[in-house]
Amino acid sequence: MTDGWANSGVDLHLDLDLAGGRRTALEQALRTAIRSGRLAAHTRLPSTRTLAAELNLARNTVAAAYEQLTAEGYLHARTGSGTTVAGVPEAHTGAAARTTAPTPRFDLRPGSPDVATFPVDAWVRATRRALARAPVSTYDYGDPRGRAELRTALAGYLGRARGVRADPEHIIVCSGYVQALSLLAGVLRGPIAMEDPGLAFHRDVVRHTGCEVLALPVDEQGACTGQLGGGALAPARAAVLTPAHQYPTGVTLHPERRRAAVAWARAHRGLVIEDDYDGEFRYDRQPVGALQGIAPEHVAYVGTAAKTLGPALRLAWMVLPERLVEPVAHAKRLTDLHTETIGQLTLAELITSHAYDRHIRACRLHYRRRRDLLIERLGRSHQLHGIAAGMHALLPLPATGPGEDDVIARAALRGLALSGLRAHMHAPGQDPAMGLIVGYAAPGQGAYPAALDLLARALRGT
Ligand SMILES: Cc1ncc(COP(=O)(O)O)c(C=O)c1O
Repeated sequence: MTDGWANSGVDLHLDLDLAGGRRTALEQALRTAIRSGRLAAHTRLPSTRTLAAELNLARNTVAAAYEQLTAEGYLHARTGSGTTVAGVPEAHTGAAARTTAPTPRFDLRPGSPDVATFPVDAWVRATRRALARAPVSTYDYGDPRGRAELRTALAGYLGRARGVRADPEHIIVCSGYVQALSLLAGVLRGPIAMEDPGLAFHRDVVRHTGCEVLALPVDEQGACTGQLGGGALAPARAAVLTPAHQYPTGVTLHPERRRAAVAWARAHRGLVIEDDYDGEFRYDRQPVGALQGIAPEHVAYVGTAAKTLGPALRLAWMVLPERLVEPVAHAKRLTDLHTETIGQLTLAELITSHAYDRHIRACRLHYRRRRDLLIERLGRSHQLHGIAAGMHALLPLPATGPGEDDVIARAALRGLALSGLRAHMHAPGQDPAMGLIVGYAAPGQGAYPAALDLLARALRGT
C-alpha cells in the first residue's frame, strides 16, 4: 500500500484479471464496475498517477485505459478537472427497448405531506445547537429506547399537545410507525384486528411478522370496537386503531367506541395500538385527545414525524404500558440496536425550543387552505366524507356516475395518479362505485390547482 492510496481522495476497488494483459484487465474491470452500477455516473476517478501506484501498474497503462474508455463513452475526461464516470453508453443499456411506466405529472394519492414545507433552516439550526452541547458519547452506541433528551421532550410535548400520559421511561423511539407496528406485532405473537378499510401496507407488515390479520369493520362512528371479543374477532390479542382520524375514511372514533375499545382491552388482556399518524392536523376545532390518555396501561400509543416534518426522517415514538417496555426495547435492540442518534437530538431541540409547534401551526394553515380549495373545486356534485383534518379525504363516488376504476383510469390517461378505496378493503367486493382517497398535501404549490382541475374533469367524465 502506498501513501497515495491513503490520500488520493476516492477509494476504488477493482479486481484485475491479468491473464489478458494489464491494460485490458484494467479496462475490463472499469467497464464491469460501471455497467453494474457500482461506479455511478459523475464519480471522480483517481488520477492516473495515483491509480497506477495503487494497482502497481505503469502510469501509461492507466492513461491508455482511461483514454480507451473515454472513447467508448464510459468516462469523461476534462482538462483540469480529472476523469469522471460518464455512465453506461446508450448502446449497452438497452434503453430503447425498455418500456418503463411513465411517471405521473400530478399526484393526488395519499401518504406524503407537502415535503417542500420541511423546515430546512430550523432543522439545521437545531442540529447545530444540539451537537454543540452534545457529549462525545453521542457518537457511540446508545440506549435501544432512544436518547433521553428526545424521550423527555416527547413526554412533555405529547402530554401537552395530544393528551398522552407519557413518562420518558415508557417511551421508545423507533424508525417510523412501520417499525413500531412490526416490533409490537413481533412481541405480541397473536392475531391482530385491523381496521377495514385500512392501509394495505400495514396489513402486510403485520403478516410479515407471522401474525394473522383480522378484519375490524369501520362505519360512520369509526371502528366497530363493540365487536371485539366476539365472533371472528374473538382471538385478537391487539386492535390497531386510528381514533383521531380514521385512515382512510376520515371519521373520528365515537366516544362510545373509545370506551368499548378500552373495556375490551381490560376484559381480554388485549392491547390497543393507537396509530396517531396525523393527530396534530385538525382544522375546525381542537384535535381530539389520544385514546391512550384514558387507559395508558391498555394502549400502545404511536406517533410519527412522517406528517409533521417528513417521512424521510424515519422518526416515530411509542408510549407503552409498563409491561411492554422491556420486551419491545429488547426486540428493538435485536432489530437495529437503536434509531440513529443525531436526528433524535435535533428533534428534541426542535421540540424544546417550540420550533416544532411553530412549524406545525404554519403547516396546519397550509393544509387547511389546500382542503378548502379541494372542496371549492369539487363544487356541489361531490362531497368529502369525514372531519376537517389530516392530509387526505375520502370522496365517495355516487352509484349513478362513473365508478372508481373508471375515474382512476381516466385520470391516469391525463397524467394524474389517484388512489381508490377498494385497495384499502381487506376483501374488496364487486361494487363498482366505491370512492377515491384524495391526498391533498403532496403536490407542489404550483401543481396543486392543475391537479384539482384534472380531478374535477376525471369525475365529470370529460
Ligand atoms: C395510516 C398511517 N399510519 C402511519 C403512517 C406513518 O408511517 P411512518 O411513520 O412509518 O412513515 C402513515 C403514513 O402515511 C399512515 O398513512
